[in-house]
Amino acid sequence: MRTGASPSSPRRRSAELPSPRPAERARPSRDPRFLRALRDVDPELSRLLKKVPLDARPPLAPEWMRCEMLERHRLLEEARILPGTTVLEVGAGPHALTTVPLAFAVGPGGRAIVTERARWGRFREIIDASGLGDRLRPITCDARRLPLRPDSVDLTVCVHAVRSLVDEAGMRRVFREMLRVAPRLFVAETLPIARSDAQRAHLAMYDLREPVFEATTGRKDDLHYLPLERLERLIEGAGGTIERRGVLEPDLPHALAYFPLTLVEAIPVARTRSALRARWRSARRSAARFGTDHPPVGFLSALRRPPLHIRRAGR
Ligand SMILES: C[S@@+](CC[C@H](N)C(=O)[O-])C[C@H]1O[C@@H](n2cnc3c(N)ncnc32)[C@H](O)[C@@H]1O
Repeated sequence: MRTGASPSSPRRRSAELPSPRPAERARPSRDPRFLRALRDVDPELSRLLKKVPLDARPPLAPEWMRCEMLERHRLLEEARILPGTTVLEVGAGPHALTTVPLAFAVGPGGRAIVTERARWGRFREIIDASGLGDRLRPITCDARRLPLRPDSVDLTVCVHAVRSLVDEAGMRRVFREMLRVAPRLFVAETLPIARSDAQRAHLAMYDLREPVFEATTGRKDDLHYLPLERLERLIEGAGGTIERRGVLEPDLPHALAYFPLTLVEAIPVARTRSALRARWRSARRSAARFGTDHPPVGFLSALRRPPLHIRRAGR
């Protein structure tokens, strides 16, 4: 772990984890929970996950992408996606973590329209490895204005991307757009709940991301996780009626919240830097002692509320 001060410019890129070593140097870890989680899945899904590259990038285990995809797969099961349907994804992100299990869920006759504002990263490489690219249509756009006609897809999903939607007004706008292009939306996001020391250790590091990114780049990302009730209110405020809600306990390690101390050292304001440095060190001590686990993840399925005159006529 590097702890030295960095004189370098506080760019967003520096929030990323260190670059991966070449894939051929990545070896599967012996972490029994990863091995068990990946062993206990449906054989077709298991074959798919084995095609996803390993990634040697401590403190992440080499299988981290496969395990995150498994967690996304379990969440998408709650979305009740029918094979052959068309589903739109908001905020795909650089590793296609939801996109791969989504392409699996829609099946060979289905399609996923995948939106991302800017951070495609390794998306193409991972999709190519999965062999499911022909089910996907990636679009670069801002999901606050989706370039799609009303009711042009069957379902919209936003999985672990609410945290990147800048603020609650942005979230509401995205949910409204999701409910314009489809009659149903599905949203899943980590909850600010810890039932174990390892989940608490994840939250301690994760909760540093919002203030550190803001202090270094002036932009908001990785917002603090919202309580499920707050997400419900936002979806209702965007014109949705909640039809189902639930909480998934992933029971998986989760080191993705980690970022290097060099980013904290790039904060220009000394008092902020010093306070966040102390919190970062404390979070690392907890991670070293307990490990870091996925906190519970909340999910919501909502239907578009009919316009008022139709609701009144139906009374
Ligand atoms: C946390 S990341 C990846 C989430 C991914 N679905 C997963 O399962 O891990 C969220 C992504 O949402 C993207 N994003 C944020 N705001 C967006 C917007 N308004 N429209 C489209 N994408 C957006 C960000 O660029 C980021 O890559």
